[in-house]
Amino acid sequence: MRKMQSEIGSICCIGAGYVGGPTMAVIAERCPHIQVTVVDLNVERIAAWNDSDFSRLPVYEPGLDAVVGRCRGRNLHFSTAVEAAVAAADMVFLSVNTPTKVKGLGAGQASDLRWVEASARTVAAHAQGHTIVVEKSTLPVRTAATLQAILGETSGRCHTNGPGPTFSVLSNPEFLAEGTAMTDLANPDRVLIGGEDPEAIEALAGIYGHWVAPEKILRTNLWSSELSKLTANTFLAQRISSINSIAALCEATGADVREVAKAIGSDSRIGAKFLQAGPGFGGSCFQKDILSLVYLCRHYGLEEVAAYWQQVVALNTWQQHRIARLVVNKLFGTVNGKRLAVLGFAFKADTNDTRESPAIRICRDLLEEGSQLVIVDPKVAPAQIAKDLGQGPRAQGPDGGGGCGCGGGGGGGCGGAGAGARGWQMASNALEAASGADGVLLLTEWAEFGTLDWGEIAAVMRRPAWLFDARAKADARAARAAGLKVWRLGEG
Ligand code: UDX
Ligand code: ADP
Repeated sequence: MRKMQSEIGSICCIGAGYVGGPTMAVIAERCPHIQVTVVDLNVERIAAWNDSDFSRLPVYEPGLDAVVGRCRGRNLHFSTAVEAAVAAADMVFLSVNTPTKVKGLGAGQASDLRWVEASARTVAAHAQGHTIVVEKSTLPVRTAATLQAILGETSGRCHTNGPGPTFSVLSNPEFLAEGTAMTDLANPDRVLIGGEDPEAIEALAGIYGHWVAPEKILRTNLWSSELSKLTANTFLAQRISSINSIAALCEATGADVREVAKAIGSDSRIGAKFLQAGPGFGGSCFQKDILSLVYLCRHYGLEEVAAYWQQVVALNTWQQHRIARLVVNKLFGTVNGKRLAVLGFAFKADTNDTRESPAIRICRDLLEEGSQLVIVDPKVAPAQIAKDLGQGPRAQGPDGGGGCGCGGGGGGGCGGAGAGARGWQMASNALEAASGADGVLLLTEWAEFGTLDWGEIAAVMRRPAWLFDARAKADARAARAAGLKVWRLGEG
């Protein structure tokens, strides 16, 4: 017997990551009558979600700790008991990772669907009664067909004590951006629900209806919903590559990309958002989704369309290499053994996420050139940076990043670095990182980097000293007044 909309009393979300965690926390808060269980195979991650110290939640999002604090243990639960949670759920969200494939068919472009398939098989094996399965992860178009095929095989499977399960598959892509996830979830521009089963669609719409205005809840068919999510991300990414391409032209011609962005953004047809030039887009979605779209286009023989979108990624990669090259060129063509302070490693401010962060490619290039990086980020853990850079931090010590007598701790920046000065290490603040450095490279727009005391920083750097501001976030006037040479992205 099928449950009706009003009967949704229990939700299970498979995947306790950057999407699953915050999304379910908001559903739990807005729908206190629904029991929400977020499950994951990653034992450490679930333990962190259950940590009594909210600063240790595995995802950093402003406002998330407060919501988890209000709901956890009441109607929000984090567990590794995946099968039991699936069995108890009326609705299961699939919110697992879907990275780009690294090998095999479609490597480098197609999304790796192994985690989606595995979780669908878990649902197929353990669901009871009628279960609504909701795609939350960004997925290639027609993935719902794969889900339906896996679930369909199980529909009506024999139970010793009752009829087999039945399923409805919905697509409900998430449009939240990291760093603003809680406000995006609380006040979305729209909620998109794609599906074929009107009753299931209304059940999900009913959940969002507790806090989202009815006119913002859009209903489409499954494939439109899946394609809309990919298209939204590719359009947003395209704007960033477009403005970054103009930033390079501004630097060559003497224009200022921020003035250009303001001038074009004032045209209501263009709009002011997503026109900030920078070190290129990062994050788990943009590159993956463009590549997934490219793969899809090639599959359908649309080579010109594929090439068009591929160029958005190519420009992004070029921008990152360009910044690293520029730093080397400004520092007399070599950064070998030179100390460089790197401000920010997360792919954007207000998150601890480093997936596809521009800092990774830029830092790797500079390490390749033999530089000594001192990285500051308020939320990213050193272990994550070690993973991203493919090497652990340099040992700290008298010769390994401690003092060089140049005004406070530049290991190798003063009087030239000795052998072994290459690599990276962390510092707890910009002043410490800049001590003895030839350059400060601002890569993530954390608010605290906008209020630095450049007089103090310039005093501990080796001259001539540079500020390379890839986000145009620092107080360039103050830095210049303090005697630094300043390069700002997009400023001619
Ligand atoms: C993005 C989409 O915005 C969101 O709708 C989708 O659900 C997931 O992907 P996210 O990647 O979390 O969200 O952050 P976003 O704010 O979009 O920024 C992505 C990248 O673009 C960041 O590296 C950011 O620094 C960069 N960016 C963004 C710019 O360089 N300039 C801009 O004007 C905006
Ligand atoms: P996103 O940014 O899309 O939320 P994350 O990588 O942060 O992606 O989170 C996805 C989570 O899904 C991970 O914590 C991973 O362990 C979990 N996961 C992947 N496959 C399964 C599965 N079959 N069952 C349970 N959890 C899974």
